[in-house]
Amino acid sequence: MNFVPGIQYILFQFLFLGLCTCLDTISITQPLRDGDGGGDVLVSNGDTFALGFFSPGNSNYRYVGIWYHKITEETVVWVANRDNPINNTSGFLSIDTQGNLVLYDNNDQTVPVWSTNSSSLPTNEYAVAQLLNSGNLVLFQNESKRLLWQSFDYPTDTMLPDMKLGIDRRTGLNRFLTSWKSADDPRIGNYTLRIDPAGYPQLILYDGQVPRFRAGHWNGIRLSGVLVFKMDPLYYDTYVNNESEISVMWSMYNISILSRLVVDASGFVRRTVRYEQERGWREFTTSPEEPCDQYGHCGAFGLCDPNNTTEFECACLPGFEPKSRSEWNFRDGTHGCVRKPGSLICSKGEGFVKLENVKVPDTSKVVVINGLSLEACEKECLRSCNCTAYASANISEGGSGCIAWHGDLVDTRIFTAGGQDFYLRVDELELAQYAKKSKGSVATKRIRITMVVLGVIIFFIITVIACWFAKRKRKEHRKLLSNANITPQASLPAEKLEESRARPDLPFFDITTLITATDNFSVRNMLGQGGFGSVYKGQLVNGQEIAVKRLSKHSGQGMHEFMNEVTVIAKLQHRNLVRLLGYCIHEEEKMLLYEYLPNKSLDHFIFDVTKRAHLDWSRRFEIVNGIARGILYLHQDSRLKIIHRDLKASNVLLDASMNPKISDFGMAKMFGEDQIQANTRRVVGTYGYMAPEYAMQGLYSTKSDVFSFGVLLLEIISSRKNTECINGSQFPNLIGHVWELWNDGRVLDIVDPALCHPLSTDEVSRCIHIGLLCVQEAAAQRPTMSDVIFMLANETPLPPPNTPAFTFHYADSSKSISGEAVSLNRVSITALEAR
Ligand SMILES: *[C@@H]1O[C@H](CO)[C@@H](O)[C@H](O)[C@H]1NC(C)=O
Ligand SMILES: *[C@@H]1O[C@H](CO)[C@@H](O)[C@H](O)[C@H]1NC(C)=O
Ligand SMILES: *[C@@H]1O[C@H](CO)[C@@H](O)[C@H](O)[C@H]1NC(C)=O
Ligand SMILES: *[C@@H]1O[C@H](CO)[C@@H](O)[C@H](O)[C@H]1NC(C)=O
Ligand SMILES: *[C@@H]1O[C@H](CO)[C@@H](O)[C@H](O)[C@H]1NC(C)=O
Ligand SMILES: *[C@@H]1O[C@H](CO)[C@@H](O)[C@H](O)[C@H]1NC(C)=O
Ligand SMILES: *[C@@H]1O[C@H](CO)[C@@H](O)[C@H](O)[C@H]1NC(C)=O
Ligand SMILES: *[C@@H]1O[C@H](CO)[C@@H](O)[C@H](O)[C@H]1NC(C)=O
Ligand SMILES: *[C@@H]1O[C@H](CO)[C@@H](O)[C@H](O)[C@H]1NC(C)=O
Ligand SMILES: *[C@@H]1O[C@H](CO)[C@@H](O)[C@H](O)[C@H]1NC(C)=O
Ligand SMILES: *[C@@H]1O[C@H](CO)[C@@H](O)[C@H](O)[C@H]1NC(C)=O
Repeated sequence: MNFVPGIQYILFQFLFLGLCTCLDTISITQPLRDGDGGGDVLVSNGDTFALGFFSPGNSNYRYVGIWYHKITEETVVWVANRDNPINNTSGFLSIDTQGNLVLYDNNDQTVPVWSTNSSSLPTNEYAVAQLLNSGNLVLFQNESKRLLWQSFDYPTDTMLPDMKLGIDRRTGLNRFLTSWKSADDPRIGNYTLRIDPAGYPQLILYDGQVPRFRAGHWNGIRLSGVLVFKMDPLYYDTYVNNESEISVMWSMYNISILSRLVVDASGFVRRTVRYEQERGWREFTTSPEEPCDQYGHCGAFGLCDPNNTTEFECACLPGFEPKSRSEWNFRDGTHGCVRKPGSLICSKGEGFVKLENVKVPDTSKVVVINGLSLEACEKECLRSCNCTAYASANISEGGSGCIAWHGDLVDTRIFTAGGQDFYLRVDELELAQYAKKSKGSVATKRIRITMVVLGVIIFFIITVIACWFAKRKRKEHRKLLSNANITPQASLPAEKLEESRARPDLPFFDITTLITATDNFSVRNMLGQGGFGSVYKGQLVNGQEIAVKRLSKHSGQGMHEFMNEVTVIAKLQHRNLVRLLGYCIHEEEKMLLYEYLPNKSLDHFIFDVTKRAHLDWSRRFEIVNGIARGILYLHQDSRLKIIHRDLKASNVLLDASMNPKISDFGMAKMFGEDQIQANTRRVVGTYGYMAPEYAMQGLYSTKSDVFSFGVLLLEIISSRKNTECINGSQFPNLIGHVWELWNDGRVLDIVDPALCHPLSTDEVSRCIHIGLLCVQEAAAQRPTMSDVIFMLANETPLPPPNTPAFTFHYADSSKSISGEAVSLNRVSITALEAR
């Protein structure tokens, strides 16, 4: 291969174009220098790529990288010194006498910031680096053209056409993609895309060491987990698995179309294409794209079907049932399925059911038998009692073989089209049922008769028992209701019964159960009272503690709407949200059952003189992070966008290990926005936490939640209520006081003295800064929740805060006003009056 333009060319360039900063090669006499104007740039012979110094996003650090030369917006595809940035423009990239490409941060060439570490050169040889038009930076020997090093072997977050990902078995080199930390920070991030050679090799996206998405194994044409690979005529994949290497590569049919595959900082594998006539990148595929793409979404022996008409995408494989029925009811499939009790595996009559269009489960622990036909594969699997399934393996181009799974089957899903055939081991009974389902009636006569007879007997027994219980229960029910002062009724109205039956996924609780559990809603058991109703502590007969929210009767919400909302809230699941366990409807009464959290709410801690000492800074910081994640989930990660509208310390509950859980989410949605315009005209929220535009004009958005979060953050740091007057402050509230201190440069004065040392003052002042950004007067200037999470996690520079909404004088203390029918106009008037 001859990719050297020759010394004459370089000399020519050097002599005649002395001032030109566009080079093609780097040599020992021709380094690449950074400079205040942007520095030298190396451009590939064909103008596609450029190599030089750059600063990503808002960063001030300088990095050496490769980007697209023709594209105006900076699109970096490779970074040399991603973990060793240079902090000024005195860097230069050169070649040392050992033949390494080295990067220095000043003229003192002793310790390089970064080096290629390639093997040393023979004497009288020199190394030259050249940027090829494929985006590959190659370092080779001047004379023999021996390749010493190439950037394609050390990819960062981008895979370009003709670049290999995988393991070189001779040298041990493993090439894989690693995400950046963020768009401004090319340091090693959490996500890697790499080939796992174990079992039947697969390409897997990891979050740390945990698989996040399985692009799958090579099935002869493409990777089994990514369907678009097959249908796309733009590019083709090449897979190699032999003694010398195991790798995947993709190539463009038309090399003048630019395309790249990036593992972005938030953990998505994005493949984008750019057509010459278009501006911007067109996104081709994004993975993981849907819940079913998430590794192990339905647990072991689960089957994910995104296209299922029922509301939960997880099901169990034939012959299996959910390990925990209740978790399954709450749409949590992660604990997977177990074999139905009484299954007789490894005995007479068992066999395999064929599932079509499947993404086969994780192949990292399979047994691969090359050259085995599908029939032989079945026999082989049947011979071993541990074998749970098998499938055909198209070993590289066209060769056939057999993969057999032993043990758990994890991460199985269904594709609409284009998946593989998958053969699952089931017992005799299941096989018969399955055959009957798919082909009509192939079940053996013997089984059928036995089942019919058994069925009749069981039905008869159940009916007799049920009648007896029903009679007894009606009696008790009547007795309880009369005690509880709730009008007894012969039975639930048909409409309500229907509603509850129509949604079997969320448990319906009978009113009598709740009356018993809460000791007839006794005041002793009352945990709190809020705008949406009262909350009681209760204990179910099985000992489980619950919190029952008895919604105020005047919501004006119909039964049907209520049911819809409950279904919505039930679907919101996040570790920082309180979990909904069930619901109850009885005439006008509507109740929601939540998990009970023993540590009560955050305000019991931070506003309590003695208890506040229990929360040290690291715990408070974790609480802040947890709250932020919960809100972000409501705002964007759940399937619907939910604005909480009443975030405050008393709505943040703490579990036994002090993890924060947001409560009353979905309430705002339930008591929907129409109420602002319609009859009751209520602004849901609490003085002290409400953003000015919301309190005064009723305008709410995710930014009003950000405001409340900012208030909460400042309260957590200072252990003071926002509505509290602070001695010596000219402002009537915490925000104003913090702003005052900020301008005086003594913002740490506000920190709760109970936060004993060692205290990370950098972290604390960063949090105060973020708090001030969140409570800015102008909603548009406030960061989004994802910005907040990013700012909390990273030490990037923050913009200075603008004036917060402190001139807003709050009327009453922290009283929640949502339950009172206050007209919007009155709210704004009272709010504006200074008291
Ligand atoms: C760059 O960083 C080095 C070491 O971290 C430091 O000594 C030096 O002062 C910094 N230079 C500038 C201009 O910030
Ligand atoms: C740049 O930073 C390096 C240390 O990282 C320092 O030695 C050098 O003097 C700095 N150059 C300028 C121009 O600030
Ligand atoms: C080169 O070697 C040094 C020391 O062994 C190491 O710190 C550095 O990360 C290596 N650089 C690269 C690019 O591998
Ligand atoms: C390449 O090698 C020749 C000798 O073969 C030498 O004269 C020349 O300086 C080398 N070029 C560079 C850029 O090192
Ligand atoms: C990366 O992982 C660490 C440790 O698990 C976690 O604290 C951090 O939030 C993660 N960062 C991102 C951007 O996900
Ligand atoms: C492995 O495959 C690659 C690519 O097809 C080929 O270049 C190499 O020679 C093969 N190695 C062996 C040992 O077959
Ligand atoms: C390749 O793509 C370029 C730019 O989009 C287009 O002009 C050219 O016609 C294409 N070539 C072929 C062979 O399709
Ligand atoms: C899909 O829905 C049906 C009922 O509609 C259910 O029987 C099945 O188990 C569900 N799941 C899958 C993965 O097919
Ligand atoms: C089956 O699995 C068990 C436990 O994992 C193991 O002890 C046993 O050796 C396995 N049997 C075969 C035939 O693989
Ligand atoms: C290989 O895979 C293709 C497509 O998935 C399939 O049509 C073919 O039957 C497979 N070959 C064997 C031997 O299983
Ligand atoms: C999946 O949904 C699409 C569109 O909703 C439909 O055309 C297709 O038949 C469905 N596939 C399966 C396997 O249910």
